[in-house]
Amino acid sequence: MNDKYNGKNNFQPKPNGLNTFDGFAQIESQIPLDIKIINRLKQKYYTSVYLIEYKDEKAVLKHFCPRNKEESSIFEKLPFQEILWKLPELNHVNLMKVFEVGENYIISEYCGEKTIEDYAKNNYFEKALFFLKEGMNALIYLGDKDFCHKDVKQTNFMIAKNDVTKLIDFELLSSSKYRFPQGWIIGSVSHMAPEQMNNEIAITNDIYSCGASIYEIITGNEASAVRLNDIDKATLTNDDKFWRWFDFTQNNKDFNDWSFDNPRLKIDDTIKNLTIRMLSFRPEKRPSMKECQEELSAWVENNFKK
Ligand SMILES: Nc1ncnc2c1ncn2[C@@H]1O[C@H](COP(=O)(O)OP(=O)(O)O)[C@@H](O)[C@H]1O
Ligand SMILES: [Mg+2]
Repeated sequence: MNDKYNGKNNFQPKPNGLNTFDGFAQIESQIPLDIKIINRLKQKYYTSVYLIEYKDEKAVLKHFCPRNKEESSIFEKLPFQEILWKLPELNHVNLMKVFEVGENYIISEYCGEKTIEDYAKNNYFEKALFFLKEGMNALIYLGDKDFCHKDVKQTNFMIAKNDVTKLIDFELLSSSKYRFPQGWIIGSVSHMAPEQMNNEIAITNDIYSCGASIYEIITGNEASAVRLNDIDKATLTNDDKFWRWFDFTQNNKDFNDWSFDNPRLKIDDTIKNLTIRMLSFRPEKRPSMKECQEELSAWVENNFKK
């Protein structure tokens, strides 16, 4: 527990540090008193996302509520407390605005209902790439501050009012100063830069993940270079698949043989090369986030504007 949070916003941690979830009554005792919960939007593991009313506006509360001792011990080891405390200082149009952070919650602006994945799933690839290149502006901003988002993927970009892309989901936010304990591999495996698996944290991790997102939009497949046969696909557990991917990335200095067979939209060598360079296993070979953003913008502009 970190002293600086105590007493803030009427937040009262339970004495044993375990906040069990059993409905709104419970959660309302742990969050600021001046908010009103409208409904729950999502629940995953020990995080719940609520639509709320905050200072007379629609907003979102993300509440971290470990349900047992194991989850609680994970939660307490995360660098969450320290780095997330800085979130309210960040201001960028493509970054979800955070209003308040507490010991186990984040209150932020409401960013609409759809993510980039919803567009790609419905075959709006042009829009998906357009929204992604807008969202990459938030990553340039974070990179300039030595921050790395670490969980960049289509579902973490929402499309808010007036079609503005917003990067969301900040719990893995890291920097060279704030990092996860050595040996912890947290994030989305299919989007994770090889060096991120070794806890090397830099904005180059996010460049790889953006490349993986472009690859996914174009091909409809996860960016994994491990070729699994049908039997493997059917029988391997997610853990097995993870370790295969881990071994592959750690044992191969680089990989350039990404398959672009059966693309879902009309592509050319320009976007293929950009994606391949972003997905380089060697961070120093990736273009900068700014270069990637500019190249993707130019490609979208040239190919989609009538
Ligand atoms: N600011 C927001 N505005 C609107 N919906 C949100 C917001 N933040 C989260 N959500 C909803 O909750 C889901 C999960 O949020 P996210 O922060 O990505 O958590 P997770 O760690 O579970 O991926 C999002 O996909 C979205 O549907
Ligand atoms: Mg998410």
